[in-house]
Amino acid sequence: MLEKSGLAELVETAKRACYAASDIFSEPGCNKVVSLKHDLKSEADRKADEAIELALRETGIPILSEESKRARDIVEDTRIWIVDPLDGTVNFESNIPMYCVSIGFWENRQPVFGVVYDCVSGEMYSGGRNFPTNCVDTHCVPSIISKPEEAILATGFPSGGDFDSESLSAFVKRIQRFRKIRLLGSAALSLAWVARGRLDGYREEGIYLWDIAAGVSLVLGAGGSVVMEDLDWKTMTLTVSAAGSKNLLRAISGKK
Ligand code: IPD
Ligand code: CA
Repeated sequence: MLEKSGLAELVETAKRACYAASDIFSEPGCNKVVSLKHDLKSEADRKADEAIELALRETGIPILSEESKRARDIVEDTRIWIVDPLDGTVNFESNIPMYCVSIGFWENRQPVFGVVYDCVSGEMYSGGRNFPTNCVDTHCVPSIISKPEEAILATGFPSGGDFDSESLSAFVKRIQRFRKIRLLGSAALSLAWVARGRLDGYREEGIYLWDIAAGVSLVLGAGGSVVMEDLDWKTMTLTVSAAGSKNLLRAISGKK
């Protein structure tokens, strides 16, 4: 386990990497789409990935990133960065102001801390299991709402998921008990907003690890709860439920 001072240094390095990536997003032409369908990619994704790699290189810690396939075999490493250079790519492409940079730090396959930078509002979130989650200089406090019928649940359709009628009706069945549903298009920011109490809970099935690797730490660091299920280190997908309140988490995840 890393010393607290060592950890604090890594958090600062991750923040610098977020700023470097975010600078890319204002460059002309970087929202040019290079692939389509549900999983959209742009020049921005690739260039931001390079900027993050450069900023994190000094730590010597291997990087698993959505954009670079090179590190898919490093998950055996004790410590890894898990990076999504641009979470909310479709929002970014469409000028919907909700996208972020997400950098998680994991040790022994468990989340340690996360840094999520909201590129539009300029809000920087950081936090983890053993230190409080902050947004800029303010400590994040999650929601205490415990009943689904009073709760706002954020969710999403994973880019690799099925859109057939059966999958969609199972999805609707799962979410119809909640007061309101939000599909915000950025898993990392959805989790950051659970951490700070803007949303009461989050659930997504078949989500990629890099989408949630930082956000789960933010929820834990704020005192909220997280359940990660079926994490497959080959496909890098899992199901994640998160909430401020333990009771709500039970309702979201279906776990006792
Ligand atoms: C997507 C977002 C979205 C989630 C999708 C992800 P991307 O990531 O996190 O909220 O529903 O499953 O793929 O493609 O914008 O990096
Ligand atoms: Ca993503």
